[in-house]
Amino acid sequence: MCGIVGYVGERDAAPIIVESLVRLEYRGYDSAGVATIHEGRLYVEKDAGKLTEGGEPTDLQRRLKSLPGKIGIGHTRWATHGDPTRENAHPHTDCRDRIAVVHNGIIENFSELRQELEERGHRFTSETDTEVVPHLIEEFMSEGKSFFDAFVEAVKRLEGSYAIAAICVDEPDVILAARKESPLVVGLGEDGNFLASDIPAILPETNEVIPVDDGEVVVVKRDEVKILDAETLRDVTDEKEVQVVEEDPHRLERHGYPHFMLKEIHEQPEAVRNTLTIERDRLVEMAEELARGEYRRLYIVACGTSYHAGLGAKYAMEMLARFPVDVVIASEFRYVTRELVDEETLVLAISQSGETADTLAAVREANERGATTIALTNVVGSTITREVDHVMYTHAGFEKAVAATKTYTAQLAAMYTLTVELARRLGELTDKEAEEYHEELDRVPEMLERVLEWEREREVAVLGGRYKERPNWFFIGRGPGYPTAMEGALKLKEITYQHAEAYPAGELKHGPLALIEEGVPVVAVAQRGGVYEKMLANIEEVKARGATVITVAEEGDENVEEHSDHVIRVPRISEVFSPIVYTVPLQLLAYYMSVARGIDPDYPRNLAKSVTVE
Ligand code: M6R
Repeated sequence: MCGIVGYVGERDAAPIIVESLVRLEYRGYDSAGVATIHEGRLYVEKDAGKLTEGGEPTDLQRRLKSLPGKIGIGHTRWATHGDPTRENAHPHTDCRDRIAVVHNGIIENFSELRQELEERGHRFTSETDTEVVPHLIEEFMSEGKSFFDAFVEAVKRLEGSYAIAAICVDEPDVILAARKESPLVVGLGEDGNFLASDIPAILPETNEVIPVDDGEVVVVKRDEVKILDAETLRDVTDEKEVQVVEEDPHRLERHGYPHFMLKEIHEQPEAVRNTLTIERDRLVEMAEELARGEYRRLYIVACGTSYHAGLGAKYAMEMLARFPVDVVIASEFRYVTRELVDEETLVLAISQSGETADTLAAVREANERGATTIALTNVVGSTITREVDHVMYTHAGFEKAVAATKTYTAQLAAMYTLTVELARRLGELTDKEAEEYHEELDRVPEMLERVLEWEREREVAVLGGRYKERPNWFFIGRGPGYPTAMEGALKLKEITYQHAEAYPAGELKHGPLALIEEGVPVVAVAQRGGVYEKMLANIEEVKARGATVITVAEEGDENVEEHSDHVIRVPRISEVFSPIVYTVPLQLLAYYMSVARGIDPDYPRNLAKSVTVE
């Protein structure tokens, strides 16, 4: 995953491009680069490293911003082919330094193309797949083709996924771009036009955007944007809808928080409140769709944290609505489970970004097999919204930190609302019971505000610091506590680099108990409800073997004290909805441990926010 940006207009391009790249760094941050054209010459500056360090601009950022010219393209990289080095950083150029290209995606046939181009005398300087593109364009231009025709021919030769932007000194007022299975939007500005991998990158510059679809080529000039079908070259610009994005660009700043992750953790009450109110009618409609009884089975497909939201939804749907659900990791679904999909299947994809390659591929498989598809996403206009039959949104606001937090609780809020309405329609809940559950959900933002009171947060912060060197963690839970344990373990892994495993607590005795010894931290999720007594027994079991037990339990629950070293208190909530509250202290635990370990939690190593490659 990488991020790409382009600008052509009246202002200096490099500072605009670099600011946009900073906002895109969540897509990759192991190297960055910019190319501009000024007075008939191509300028390229790039290197390994980040654009910001601790919120401050790095030397690389300053160098990139200094390039001259009113037209340029930029890139922030998350390495797939080739190490993160200066040579492998984008933009890549042709042999004569007249064409520059940035690319997000993977060109699968790059080896053949490279060999063919090398045989024709082209000199390559990187190990990347992308470098074939400027050389291909150069090759076609050497046959007498214009920059545009050469670009289109080059794109036709590419297999794989791409969002590509290119500039050429021969035509110094145009950026050409193309898209296949990697996100790309055009931004319409007053004094120029933009290209970017996603909307937030350019939001402070313009809120008028046109999402580019697969198989389209874009011509961007200072005062004109044209979108064409890449195959037929038919002009489809007039058929495209200009979206006006309502998101406030100021929300994209840290607002005094040391990290975006902490800010986003604290935005959860608002994210949940907005989702419960703004999306309510839509969720009711979707519950009606599910309740019509036309579907033989429901698959929820997702990755990472969104998968855990799917698991939370499964427990709710099965406990409240008695509606059976299979939750499948999207990368497994797309190759294995797809065989079971037919016209009577409903596939609900959860993806905060709406751009995750595996989730999109699962949706495409489901569409091809005639299933009805629904997406739950946080990003208006994201690719997934254009590929499914029905869309539901979370209203969490843009999430920047790699570790998902507010989008997770917002996803749960949406799925719980849908579940209550489904249960009502299936006769599993009376109207009165359904209303009581809705009222409880409406109180969740307030509960989250209590979890996030500084006194409580500080206790969790202390635990993060105290146990920061413990290398192996277990997270255990039962029933809806199990997805909470899974999400807690994932957060810890991704931003503290400590090993963490989540288990359904009843499963411990089937193997993992062998790993519990003196001082191994075990985080126990002990919500009240049907599995509470069993959970207490599991806590006792690990404590007896020397574990350091940190239990998350509701206020006033004294039973957990005896066998716990520490108890993190949360407000009372029905067991079925417990993940939406119990997960939050675990986000904080991971966050404070990450900071105590000297890691930047917003930019964990090897990870990027949107995984737009397989
Ligand atoms: O955008 P998506 O919800 O589809 O992303 C799915 C995962 O890549 C994502 O949740 C990932 O696991 C997060 N880094 C977790 O914090």
